[in-house]
Amino acid sequence: MPITRPADVPHPLASPAVGAELQQGLLATHAHVSPKFLYDALGSKLFEAICELPEYYPTRTEAAIVARYGAEIARAIGPGATLIDLGAGNCAKAAALFPLLHPAQYVAVDISYDFLHEAIGRLQQRFPHIEMTGLGLDFSQQLVLPAVVRPERRVFFYPGSSIGNFTPDEALAFLQRVRAASDEAGGLLIGIDLVKDTALLDAAYDDALGVTAAFNLNLLRHVNRLLGSDFAVPQWRHLGYYNAQEQRVEMHLEAREALTVRWPGGARQFAKREAIHTENSYKYRLPQALGLLEQAGFGTVHAWTDPDQWFALIYARPLAR
Ligand SMILES: C[S@@+](CC[C@H](N)C(=O)[O-])C[C@H]1O[C@@H](n2cnc3c(N)ncnc32)[C@H](O)[C@@H]1O
Repeated sequence: MPITRPADVPHPLASPAVGAELQQGLLATHAHVSPKFLYDALGSKLFEAICELPEYYPTRTEAAIVARYGAEIARAIGPGATLIDLGAGNCAKAAALFPLLHPAQYVAVDISYDFLHEAIGRLQQRFPHIEMTGLGLDFSQQLVLPAVVRPERRVFFYPGSSIGNFTPDEALAFLQRVRAASDEAGGLLIGIDLVKDTALLDAAYDDALGVTAAFNLNLLRHVNRLLGSDFAVPQWRHLGYYNAQEQRVEMHLEAREALTVRWPGGARQFAKREAIHTENSYKYRLPQALGLLEQAGFGTVHAWTDPDQWFALIYARPLAR
């Protein structure tokens, strides 16, 4: 079956709004760049490598939950769904679900479109009987799916605790958009990282090999290409640590020396040790996560966790409108 690439969906980073968003963040009192800019083609490969690290427990913990409770998950969801993978990356997690869920259509959505396109091409060869569509979309502000996505039995798949990249208010708005795009016969299968020991969290986001550091620093090269800026990677240092008060891991890039970054139409001076905030990864307690889903309009919920209660995989069905 051929993979569909809808002609009416432009590249998600081609818009002039991208430059404006980056500039606004860099000029803010506390400079920030959205974590969605961590993912160019190299960033997506570095994230794949992070998932292999012994320190990075979320991927293997979530996979172990699927391996252990796959039959129950399949019973809760049922066959023949339109499986919509939000931030699909290398599509590996969806591939593990196919033999359990037998979806009628697989729709992989990702801002890192070139990486996604290669991944879904490989996947289609492995599963030629499943209809597949790859969509390059930025879903941080809106979730508009083109007509090629079947309207019935939409099951959104949002693994890896990517929801943690949003603040709780943004997460609620995002989940409400997912609810609005769902039908009552569908649902949301979401992976949520749970609050745990600080040392585990610190190590997961600042690993011994420095892969997470490379992932974070690569954002500067991606911004250089998108904005025409002159960030020099050696002038910056990766920071990743758990902020218990905010219940989130934070990643920052800290200037090793006083410096100025320039781009067409703008510039920003950074003092030594001044930082750019590049990612939050909020951790939830299970009742908080369930409360958020309920607030967003999801009702019946099944939740599966690992024996250490490090991670939760939740299937939530939309409440009737
Ligand atoms: C943490 S990775 C998770 C990848 C994979 N789903 C997993 O669980 O291993 C986040 C993924 O979401 C994509 N992504 C991040 N922000 C996005 C956005 N605003 N719109 C679309 N995709 C986004 C990234 O390119 C990346 O592939």
